[in-house]
Amino acid sequence: MASSSPRATITACERFLPDRILTNEDIERTVDTSDEWIRERTGIAERRILDDQPTSFMATEVAKGLLRRRGISGDDIDLILVATITPDMVCPSTACLVQDRIGASKAWAFDLLAACSGFVYALVTGAQFITSGTHKRVIVIGADRMSAITDPTDRSTCILFGDGAGGVLLEASEDDSGLIDFELHADGSGCDDLNVPGGGSLWPATKQTVEQRLHFIRQEGRTVFKFAVQRMAEVSLSLLQRNELTPQDLDLFVPHQANQRIIDATANKMKIPADRVMSNIKHMANTTAGTVPIALSEAFDEGRLQPGNLVQLTAVGGGLTWGSALLRWGTAA
Ligand code: UT7
Repeated sequence: MASSSPRATITACERFLPDRILTNEDIERTVDTSDEWIRERTGIAERRILDDQPTSFMATEVAKGLLRRRGISGDDIDLILVATITPDMVCPSTACLVQDRIGASKAWAFDLLAACSGFVYALVTGAQFITSGTHKRVIVIGADRMSAITDPTDRSTCILFGDGAGGVLLEASEDDSGLIDFELHADGSGCDDLNVPGGGSLWPATKQTVEQRLHFIRQEGRTVFKFAVQRMAEVSLSLLQRNELTPQDLDLFVPHQANQRIIDATANKMKIPADRVMSNIKHMANTTAGTVPIALSEAFDEGRLQPGNLVQLTAVGGGLTWGSALLRWGTAA
């Protein structure tokens, strides 16, 4: 990043969670599992479920909230980016639906797919248009209605996921706040470790693909678990190191919320004190692209983010994808 370019800073953050709560006890009634097993193995107690609405509904609520918090209108937005693996439709993008609903008449809009790393990927992408001076205001949202692609009869996945969305508004920084640096990665050889095989051009929807349950998310749980811990710690430390920082310099570490044991193991590897690690998985479960911005928005509303704080966002997900972003917190709404 050239030193003369402004940093992209977060000037507002927002989240949307559906009202309906699905508890572990509710799931006990439908598959062979227990509240005890789920809490012990994942740290999850409950998740939110969106009924009768698509992902764009949650993303639009987030976008409206960002405009409200910042006191601006849709016309002030130049670009809308939505990270999701549960778009309303294959085409058009969910971002275009949000663009229309908030009246962002001057904005262009597109979706970005990097699964659970989606928000970190999208944040970095959106920031480039601020840093280059091309755009003044960019909305970046991570939103997933995971209940739409989760097999309610598969106990290895139905316990893990929830619905939700979060997002941020990016603008040019007038001080040293904003995105300091990032590191992003992909390894497509891990495609089979975590995927939703049906509904694309490989397996277009047919009676057979539905019968074979190919439209649901599937994963190699243990493989993904180990990969997540190793890569999240590795990329976070690498990014800190090249900026001559250490985990002890962080005011808040916001990891992807996939499993409390993954969060704890990553924090332990990095030697970050637990009180500087954001976790809300107990009540939200894994909302895929939503986890990081939802956690960020909660942390902000709880007063855990103050101007000047050093914040690291790190995620891992299907692709496989992983990455980290380092921010200096500014003045947000
Ligand atoms: O966002 C990125 C996407 N996903 C992830 O990050 C998930 C990463 N993986 C995980 O979080 C964990 O691997 C899981 C929570 C999915 C599973 O936990 P685990 O400790 O790795 O369990 P396991 O898959 O090794 O299974 C242990 C046992 C098995 O039984 P046997 O073969 O030992 O008899 C499973 O059949 O637990 C069984 N099991 C369950 N038992 C009760 C699997 N799911 C359940 C369940 N309730 N819901």
